[in-house]
Amino acid sequence: MTTVLKLGGSVVTQKDQPETVDDGALATAARVVGESLGTTPDDPTASPGGESLVVVHGGGSFGHPAAAAHGVSASEGTRDAAALADIHRAMGRLNNRVVTALHATGVPALPVRPLSVVRRTNAGVTAPTAAVEGMLAEGFVPVLHGDVVVDETAGGTVCSGDTLVVALADALDADRLGVCSTVPGVLDGGEVVPEITGYEAVADVLGGSDATDVTGGMAGKVRALLDVDGPASIFGLDDLGRFLAAGQPGTTVR
Ligand code: IPE
Repeated sequence: MTTVLKLGGSVVTQKDQPETVDDGALATAARVVGESLGTTPDDPTASPGGESLVVVHGGGSFGHPAAAAHGVSASEGTRDAAALADIHRAMGRLNNRVVTALHATGVPALPVRPLSVVRRTNAGVTAPTAAVEGMLAEGFVPVLHGDVVVDETAGGTVCSGDTLVVALADALDADRLGVCSTVPGVLDGGEVVPEITGYEAVADVLGGSDATDVTGGMAGKVRALLDVDGPASIFGLDDLGRFLAAGQPGTTVR
């Protein structure tokens, strides 16, 4: 079984503090992932033939402020290599922290840095299947992240983790796709909307994100997930274990 999991940037970082990891939340996510894979703390050794898990994390207080500082978003690009490298480096610092936290719970996590292996063309974003499938075949857990990627028309633009999980779920023919957010699902008046099948029906409950978010907040998430072939779940950290144990917590987007 292949599962693609996005850990929202607002889950693993403190979104209103520059470049600050939410250590408690990241440790919890890593523990729950380790439990679901049955790994042993501090022994991140890959064993081929088990469950295939791909993790993608967002930018939170690392990627979004860096992208905003250079005026780069999913639609606004730049050909300034130094600016692109600066945003990529900010994401690299967060990726290191996520990979290290997963190692502490025995998850055999390895980084895959999208800037080096993903391209945005007019047809969409290419999924980094070669890198990811190679790691999965050896029993590793690839850990990707929202990043800047080269863009056919704009030099380099931001590719969100949501865009990546959609491209990966399709390319890997994943069985399950989950997006772990700071909220327990898409909320309508404080209640979780159990199922979304089209954008228009929920357009007015999908507000913008409070902190700097160059890729569209919950509205962007739902739009991206509606494009996936199979169902996708949006849920909070409290429900991560339930999702990884094959449950369907939070909001299911079909
Ligand atoms: C954003 O990724 C990456 C950059 C800004 C470079 P996401 O859009 O997936 O991040 P979150 O989950 O909203 O923080």
